[in-house]
Amino acid sequence: MTDPLAQVYRRFGEAAAETSPLYERVAVALSESDAALHAIEAAPARKRHPTVILAALHDLALAGRAPALAAAYEAADGDAAAGAAIDTLLEMTDSVVAVAARRRPRTDETGRCAVLYPAIAEAARRVGADAVGLIDVGCSAGLNLNVDRVGITYNNGQSLGDPSSPVQLSSSIVGERPLPTGAMPAVVARVGVDRDPVDVTDADDARWLRACLSPDQPERIARLEAEMALAATAPPLLLQGDAVEVLPDAFAGVPADALPVVTTTWALSSFSLEHRLRFLHRLDEAAAGRTVAWVSAEGVGVAPAVPTRGDRRAFGHSIIGLAQFTQSALRAEAVGRCWSRGRLLAWLADA
Ligand SMILES: C[S@@+](CC[C@H](N)C(=O)[O-])C[C@H]1O[C@@H](n2cnc3c(N)ncnc32)[C@H](O)[C@@H]1O
Repeated sequence: MTDPLAQVYRRFGEAAAETSPLYERVAVALSESDAALHAIEAAPARKRHPTVILAALHDLALAGRAPALAAAYEAADGDAAAGAAIDTLLEMTDSVVAVAARRRPRTDETGRCAVLYPAIAEAARRVGADAVGLIDVGCSAGLNLNVDRVGITYNNGQSLGDPSSPVQLSSSIVGERPLPTGAMPAVVARVGVDRDPVDVTDADDARWLRACLSPDQPERIARLEAEMALAATAPPLLLQGDAVEVLPDAFAGVPADALPVVTTTWALSSFSLEHRLRFLHRLDEAAAGRTVAWVSAEGVGVAPAVPTRGDRRAFGHSIIGLAQFTQSALRAEAVGRCWSRGRLLAWLADA
């Protein structure tokens, strides 16, 4: 097999084997079909990747426009799904390409609150704030902005948040150090900033988030449905644009008597270093008038000013950063480490 696109699809399929046998089967079938690969080549070069094309096919299935594919996905029937995916690609090439061209692939963005909750509550405790305004940068669908409205249980017996929430998350603690137990103060503003935000109250946007998950991952799908439903009951203010440009408007949305807490989860790696430094500068500028906190969960060395504690990127975990900007100083600390986007976390700071 010399066709590079065929190789990309085959490798994607092989890598999906453990998490999605359905996508393994579909991607490998596409890699072996010259006609399907030719149809995929109708998409712009950067939109031919399996994550985009499979999500576009899934989107058409969820929209009721590809019933045979929808039925095969529903039945988790790999053979039928492979055949239906090829047929859909050939018969609806323009529609698949149109969805792929219009949309950016989204990762599973649920569950971040298990990491964010203790760090935001700790930020508020440190400055004595009894109200916070959340500003999530690179927010995508803004699911992080419900951090105070979910319940979280940790495998060390600790729990945080709302035990009666319809969204219940769990996370495993690594090491002996307990999480801070403080409850989050009142959240008086929820602002999401993204150059391409997803509005969960918009049917097409919400379907695209679902389409970006494999159809045979019921736990992830259930978690996404629950988090989207919760978000839809109190939609955040979504500001569209570049973070550096839009942040002043976001700060303006936080009442003067509340602590603005900016959050970033795996968002800054797509910023150039210069852009990350400009982002930091924006936080510093906002602190001319009041204290500002920034909670980050980013790869090692990605969040500027947040110490790496000698960790290396190659270890594959992320650092939970807590930075406090005042008029005269920036104090930034690595308060934790996390793995698998927060499914596991180690707290490092004194509780
Ligand atoms: C990898 S996603 C992370 C989404 C989410 N925070 C999470 O935890 O999964 C990065 C997000 O940052 C947004 N983004 C990238 N560059 C941006 C910029 N310069 N300004 C605002 N948003 C940006 C993208 O549109 C995308 O939604």
